[in-house]
Amino acid sequence: MIRSSLVCLFTLFLCSTEACQINRKVQPSMTATVFGKLSDGREVHEYTLTNRAGITAKIIDYGATVRSLLVPDRNGKMADVVLGYDSVQGYADGTAYFGAIVGRYGNRIGKGKFQLDGKEYQLTINDGENHLHGGKIGFNKVLWAGKILSDSGKPSLQLQYVSPDGEEGYPGTVTLKVTYTLTDNNELRIDYEGTTDKPTILNPTQHSYFNLSGVFTNKILDHQLMIEADGITPVDKGLIPTGQILSVANTPMDFRTHTAIGARINDPNEQLAFGKGYDHNWVLRNKAGQVGKAAELYEPGSGRLMIVSTDQPGLQFYSGNFLDGSAKGKNGVAYQHRTGLCLETQAFPDTPNKPQFGSITLRPEQVYRQTTIYQFSTR
Ligand code: BGC
Repeated sequence: MIRSSLVCLFTLFLCSTEACQINRKVQPSMTATVFGKLSDGREVHEYTLTNRAGITAKIIDYGATVRSLLVPDRNGKMADVVLGYDSVQGYADGTAYFGAIVGRYGNRIGKGKFQLDGKEYQLTINDGENHLHGGKIGFNKVLWAGKILSDSGKPSLQLQYVSPDGEEGYPGTVTLKVTYTLTDNNELRIDYEGTTDKPTILNPTQHSYFNLSGVFTNKILDHQLMIEADGITPVDKGLIPTGQILSVANTPMDFRTHTAIGARINDPNEQLAFGKGYDHNWVLRNKAGQVGKAAELYEPGSGRLMIVSTDQPGLQFYSGNFLDGSAKGKNGVAYQHRTGLCLETQAFPDTPNKPQFGSITLRPEQVYRQTTIYQFSTR
């Protein structure tokens, strides 16, 4: 945690050898400033991570949120590619989870109920009759403790949150550490590590809304998406999985080759109707526990390409269907329908009630781990 008495502006020079200096374009660095204050007076800090190529991530400790991410287009011009707000108030009042870590359970749990070791737990209901993204005050609405990690030689920030026993109905005190690292391969790497003092469930994810054009008045419909998946977990009208796996073949869910998001989004299709567009979990081909490619997202105008890799079994692709212009974001831009999209790596939705989806139970003797990487380049 940074002390408010400090001006909180410092730079870690992570590259000092001569060879390193010759190759670099920008000195990798990390700075911290006070971003603003919560209504109870607590300070929110913003950490700025910059890698050798000048890619810059601004991350705040409220919600462990990626607030902006500057990446170059094919001509080297930098632009911010994630939706977000200019002020703490925006994040405190916002309902769209822009850029945050969500949890304890990223995604939905049917009727907010699950059983663990023979006992039933009732979580907060905050999405129709279901539980979504950790409840009313999920991980996105709390202040995390930030720590700059200087030993990796790369700009790296660890954020920790201790979620008390019973929070939003979940059993056990959970300690979650999320480490953001900006690598020299132009990756924003996210490593999660979670522990508990009682059996519980844990399934956090990163909820950035990307718009690779860098112009947030543009819709994301011309972005081309490829997902390494042959199936989805189809949902009912409350967006709770039915428990089956549906082949993507001959459906608008088939992203096995690069396809424009807008090409089929309005096709008559029950799943698209339930989601009001894409809001589904794809069953990744990844081998469990191994980091592998999950998706590619390409924006033809700017040439920006983002590759998502993860060790998680599922990828929620959400096409920003609920954005409706009511969220006023950075520089006063109102985020309209489908001007940002999420690619959230996680276990399948409603896993606690679907034994066929595996288990996301975390016990005191275990450690929850996840690694997800968003890598940027151009074509
Ligand atoms: C969900 C959407 C939800 C959105 C909230 C996504 O992860 O899949 O259904 O509306 O988060 O911003």
